[in-house]
Amino acid sequence: MAQGLKVLTAVLPQDVKLETQEYDLGARRWHATGETLPDAELESLKRHDAILLGAIGDPSVPSGVLERGLLLKLRFAFDHFVNLRPSKLFPNTTTPLAGRPDIDFVVVREGTEGPYTGNGGSLRTGTPAEVATEVSLNTAYGVERVVRDAYERANARPRKKLTLVHKNNVLVYAGHMWKNIFDKVGQEYPEVTTDYLHVDAATIFFVTQPERFDVIVTDNLFGDILTDLAAAVTGGIGLAASGNINPTGDFPSMFEPVHGSAPDIAGTGKADPTATILSVALLLRHLGYEQQAARIEEAVAADLEARWGHLPGPSGQGGGSPRSTDEIGDALAARVAG
Ligand code: IPM
Ligand code: MN
Repeated sequence: MAQGLKVLTAVLPQDVKLETQEYDLGARRWHATGETLPDAELESLKRHDAILLGAIGDPSVPSGVLERGLLLKLRFAFDHFVNLRPSKLFPNTTTPLAGRPDIDFVVVREGTEGPYTGNGGSLRTGTPAEVATEVSLNTAYGVERVVRDAYERANARPRKKLTLVHKNNVLVYAGHMWKNIFDKVGQEYPEVTTDYLHVDAATIFFVTQPERFDVIVTDNLFGDILTDLAAAVTGGIGLAASGNINPTGDFPSMFEPVHGSAPDIAGTGKADPTATILSVALLLRHLGYEQQAARIEEAVAADLEARWGHLPGPSGQGGGSPRSTDEIGDALAARVAG
């Protein structure tokens, strides 16, 4: 987070006054007070133009407490129905796809519905006769607004291609609704080429033919899984940025790295801050600072280019000592300021 703010400060024009407020949320807070996100803080967060969220989570907190009580609470409370996750193949990254032609796609993951709504239950819990349900909630309203957003994004990109990913050969209710709405909204975007893939087939193409994708729209759970795969094949989770966007502007949008908090290396200065810094770029783009956003993304590309030979590569290249969290932040701040 410190590196993200460092780069944000460095890239902003002189006449833009940045006002920040820090919120102490996450594992430490929960241990100290038992709180995840009190309503007063949620109200206070609402007043900001945007939120930059640091990676949260710690194995010492029971699984689900922070996920539901903090991250998902924010996404639901601020109606972040567009979970935007771009994937770009940066230079010199250690990925199975290194050296492949341009990979540049964006996943528009639905952010407020699907199986994430906590709609389910368990009977005879813990017994051999237990029955558990986890219902995926899909509303025409919710699907149409995210599908429309994805068409808008596809229409604004040079390739104008949109792929719907679902599993409508098995999930016949939600799957057919998604496909029908996708086709219906598509009539308003005659210039956008469309395509449909079952999610299992999509995972194959993410690895074997990722350049075929431009914009992808999918539900909350498929989008969660696909975007980790996308990160892994395009440079690693350490580079994956995301935006939880409310395109109506009714609530602040929130930007965060896709990765977790890496508690095993916390405080050692080894964590790569690049995903947070790229999330700052998405934040700036969302607020209309396109030039500054592009400067950050160019700086990251140039930085990755330059540091080759210093990090141990996939087949043992380099081997010098990797830079610290601070050094990477300093290098990127210097590049965007220069
Ligand atoms: C993500 C994360 C979250 C999700 C978890 C932590 C709830 O995996 O942002 O992708 O599943 O959305
Ligand atoms: Mn995830």
